[in-house]
Amino acid sequence: MQLNNSILLELKNSFQPDLENKVGLIEVIDKHHGYLEDCIAVLTDSETAVEDKQSYLYQFLHILHMHAKAEEETLYAFLHESDVKDARLESVVGQDEHNIIYQLASELIDLDFSVAWSEETQAKAKVLSIIVQTHLEEEEQEMVPLIKECISEREMQKITLNYLKKCEDYLHYEMLSPCHYSSFAYSPTTLPG
Ligand SMILES: [Fe+2]
Ligand SMILES: [Fe+2]
Repeated sequence: MQLNNSILLELKNSFQPDLENKVGLIEVIDKHHGYLEDCIAVLTDSETAVEDKQSYLYQFLHILHMHAKAEEETLYAFLHESDVKDARLESVVGQDEHNIIYQLASELIDLDFSVAWSEETQAKAKVLSIIVQTHLEEEEQEMVPLIKECISEREMQKITLNYLKKCEDYLHYEMLSPCHYSSFAYSPTTLPG
């Protein structure tokens, strides 16, 4: 089937303006969480047609991977070195949750969801959606106050710049080789040379 990738294109076209407009870290993370939440709303809606669910899941996995990897390599890495215990703890909690998310995402790719939409696929997509929704809420309610407490304005600007550049690289790389990874290779630790 022909998968629609309009959300991915919209996201891809937003990085440069966000860099130029020096959008803040919390604002940009909120915006990327918003894209994920839009996908979750479709994936958990019982009325949505299967073809739409396939398209949304395809885009959801790309955005999820892009956001999670870029977040780990910039924000989580910074919080992990913080003097504040809760900030270090929250970065480890976030990473553990990402690892569960990667595992479920790999299983969905292995089910070939873009070719066939089984009950197993539907169930796994629902579980992934619920876990991601909880993860996003936790970041917004518990991590954002720590970001404000532990990261200076200057450091935030640096993290935002790195985060957006990594998003650009990850999304570009994934749109060139869509869903090429499978179990245990879902989360490449580095981008190819
Ligand atoms: Fe996260
Ligand atoms: Fe996040």
